Amino acid sequence: MAEHGGNQVVDSHTVLYGVIGDPIRHSKSPIMMNRAFRETGINGVYAAFHITSETLPAFVEGVRAMGIRGVNVTIPHKLQIMELVDEIDAGALAIGAVNTIVNDNGKLVGYNTDGIGYVRSLKEEAEPDLAGKRIVVIGAGGASRGIVYALLREKPDSVAIANRTVERAEELAESLGGATAGLTAIPNEKLRDWCGDADIVINTTSVGMYPNVGLSPIEAGWMKPGAVASDLIYNPLRTEFLLQAEASGCRTHGGLGMFIYQGAYAFEYWTGQAAPVEAMRETVLASLQV
Ligand code: ATR
Repeated sequence: MAEHGGNQVVDSHTVLYGVIGDPIRHSKSPIMMNRAFRETGINGVYAAFHITSETLPAFVEGVRAMGIRGVNVTIPHKLQIMELVDEIDAGALAIGAVNTIVNDNGKLVGYNTDGIGYVRSLKEEAEPDLAGKRIVVIGAGGASRGIVYALLREKPDSVAIANRTVERAEELAESLGGATAGLTAIPNEKLRDWCGDADIVINTTSVGMYPNVGLSPIEAGWMKPGAVASDLIYNPLRTEFLLQAEASGCRTHGGLGMFIYQGAYAFEYWTGQAAPVEAMRETVLASLQV
């Protein structure tokens, strides 16, 4: 592509991408994705758009009219957008949320890269083989749903979903195949026993997120040394749960990788090229440490 003084030049061939949400100005996606375009020499530019529920339909028309190639969709639009695209990928349909749109010559296809992004990050950063593993997932909200869906495709021995409101864990387990898929719902009171037996424990709740940085969803000392403690939270990068787990001899996996890899999958769907994951991580880390 056109280069000028080491900088990417926006010209009349530049392809548009972006992220939508409400709020959106905190998003790290633009710096991460523009780095990915620069790194691969793709003539694309990625911006953040503040879109509300009211302006979402008009935005989607804009995507069609302007030929915007790809959109990431974040809070609060991951459900509403499903009614506005032309086709929904089977995984996104099962998860019940869309976070990525690919515009294929006017046909808008919705995907969900959150769960598969998380699992790719877990495999590349902490535990390469999830087959046969005993996994505990704490929390039964939207994030948990995508992750459990993606974990099941890795053929773990079992996935136990614990939730403060156990009915929500039961509904989630049932809707993704229940006991036949190796899924069990447990109340938080049973976490101690299940964590003692688990190979991987994943926190999908907001417990421990800034500003409540001193809180942990479990006592990490319940876990076996060598087991993996994984937290979706990336602010702070190292949560109380991970700090405690490390002190107990566990391996730890933070939430930044999920953000990077959900973006990596989106990049790959849009461009057909492998995402420059390490460059993306470097850019996001640098921006967090400012
Ligand atoms: P997300 O899409 O990020 O998963 P969500 O759908 O609101 O957000 O789900 C939040 C999850 O964190 C839920 O599992 C919630 O438990 P409940 O279903 O019982 O509400 C869990 N959660 C949030 N705050 C919590 C707390 N202080 N203690 C325990 N669980 C908590």
